[in-house]
Amino acid sequence: MGTPSQQMIRRAEKLRRELQDHDYRYYVLAEPTISDELYDTLLRELVDLERNHPELRSPDSPTQRVGGEPSKVFPTVEYSTPMLSLGNSYSEDEIRDFDRRVRALLKPSIPTYVAELKFDGVAITLQYNNGVFQLGATRGDGLRGDDITGNLKTVRSLPLRLRTSQPDLQSIEVRGEAFMHRPDFEQMNRLRADQGEKTFINPRSATAGTLKLQDPKLVAKRHIRFSAYSLASASARPKSHFENLRTLKTLGFPVSPHIRLCPTIDEAIAFWRVWEAKRETLPHDIDGIVVKVDSLPHQERLGTIAKSPRWAMALKFASRKAETVLNNIVLQVGRQGTVTPVAELEPVFVGGTTVSRATLHNIDYINDLDLRLGDTVIVEKGGDVIPKVSGVVAKERPKGARRFVMPDSCPVCRSPIHRPQGEANSYCDNAECAAQVKRRIEHFAHRGAMDIEGLGDAAIDQLVQLGLARSCADLYVLHRNRELLVNLERWGEKSTQNLLDAIEASKKQPFRRVLFALGIRHVGGGAAQVLAERFRSIEALREASSDELQSIPAIGPKIAESITAFFAENHNRRIIRALQKAGLTLSTTQPLAAGPLSRKTFVLTGTLASHTRDEAKRMIEERGGTVASSISKRVDYVIVGTTPGSKRKKARSLGIPILSEKEFIQLLR
Ligand code: IVH
Repeated sequence: MGTPSQQMIRRAEKLRRELQDHDYRYYVLAEPTISDELYDTLLRELVDLERNHPELRSPDSPTQRVGGEPSKVFPTVEYSTPMLSLGNSYSEDEIRDFDRRVRALLKPSIPTYVAELKFDGVAITLQYNNGVFQLGATRGDGLRGDDITGNLKTVRSLPLRLRTSQPDLQSIEVRGEAFMHRPDFEQMNRLRADQGEKTFINPRSATAGTLKLQDPKLVAKRHIRFSAYSLASASARPKSHFENLRTLKTLGFPVSPHIRLCPTIDEAIAFWRVWEAKRETLPHDIDGIVVKVDSLPHQERLGTIAKSPRWAMALKFASRKAETVLNNIVLQVGRQGTVTPVAELEPVFVGGTTVSRATLHNIDYINDLDLRLGDTVIVEKGGDVIPKVSGVVAKERPKGARRFVMPDSCPVCRSPIHRPQGEANSYCDNAECAAQVKRRIEHFAHRGAMDIEGLGDAAIDQLVQLGLARSCADLYVLHRNRELLVNLERWGEKSTQNLLDAIEASKKQPFRRVLFALGIRHVGGGAAQVLAERFRSIEALREASSDELQSIPAIGPKIAESITAFFAENHNRRIIRALQKAGLTLSTTQPLAAGPLSRKTFVLTGTLASHTRDEAKRMIEERGGTVASSISKRVDYVIVGTTPGSKRKKARSLGIPILSEKEFIQLLR
């Protein structure tokens, strides 16, 4: 301890200024520029400094108050009970400390806890008088906030009248969280981007920004949701928080279904672990859980210190966000020629791994973020492990930071890059581009496709560079260059033989795998299987029209189009001929499934009462039949629902049997 050094004085001053600035951005402007965790880290540092050296404390320190200024544009309301915030903890140890403190203070009573999700949204308080929604406000500085009643009335899940006539529940105050679902948020951002408006960083800032709008009609267009988590005042409060939540539900409030009554802190910790792993399954963001002492008399005994209750504690998840510097943007060429910009980052530890690269999707994404080389960026890990750059810390931008410009030629083969009108992606059009060839061979060889062991990315790199593999078909003549391979760096006799054996063995892979391995755009493993079962040979598939392809339930216009485009290319036809010559399995060898409707062709017209079109199609196909989209002599039955089109007439004129829905169902049986 002792007197603080000059360095500490300067540090405390800097932290105060920064935190004040962030408070302003977060609470007043609703445009945060740093992650919550970073904010908490800075605040903790200041709290620690001030605790060790009380003389560093100043009346304007962010530690001395709850939040920022309420914004000026709405009437200000004062709360009868302050809107508190929660103490944060990040580890099992810290929450066990909390439990020890609580038990020590309550002795000899033993607390029960309630564990809840910590919604990552905006805290809201709601007043009801005579059972009617009277006033809704934001948290502001904890003692007074903005009256946004008009905006909150547009939140559809929020009851305008309580669903009870119980006299002692007519005048209450309810607190909870306003938030947005991620898909709603993404849709809204897409719309804004289309209209050239600024996009929001995350659902929380989108919610805060929305609730600050002056026009409730605009608010109504956004999908703001509400979840209640506390009954702050009522003349008849039950004895426990858990019961309170149940009461809130009966009153018509949305209350999270994920609430756990925990006899000991261990259950709360288990709840935290479970939700840390499952958080992405929710449609909305959570940033941790909240542990609350259940008994209200216990809560009263524990009381409140400064801005937080002693009876509750947030237990947050490790951040899946971090800040780092964008060193460079490089281009990656995919197997379809898509040129994807990739961020090269100063390595940073996020969500358990070190991240040094992240996709930037396309040039629009970069421009929407207004990303510049040398920027400090926010790196985020979502549900998948692939990290993305989700934001820019504008005020950290170095002077003269350059924008990224999409080059006009491919970084690998130098042929022109083009961006089709209306598309966000850019493409290298040279199908023989070494980068594309490598990616295609990687896809061809990988485990889900031909599963050629020993043909990893490095080996493919060598083969492509030496000109030994210009397409996947070249793999099957590689044995002619055996000597050359054996003498390659890192190869030798044994691994060469292993690779040649693995390539030979891959000839036995079934048709559906080969089809997938060809890398036809949009044709994943599932579509490949369906196509292999239906067309049974590469020739039949090659000859299929777009209509025929689309008569299969799993195949939409996008897939159909890319299949026909694939077979239209000479380059691809050559590869297929070579694969055929090499002896790969290019047809289905299993006998045709002999269903009761096998070789029968159906046409559906009108609306069926008991099934959707897709269901009817599937039922026919499961029994070996096919569904065509138009009437011709080859059609065996026409199934007619209500309000059929001209097809019934045409079927009659051709003498094709017409089935009612009932007859069709009988036929299926
Ligand atoms: S209880 C005194 N429960 O977390 C306790 N808060 O600083 C008041 N939050 O902005 C809060 N989910 O809006 C509570 N299940 C939950 C919550 C929750 C999210 C927010 C709250 C506030 C922050 C606490």
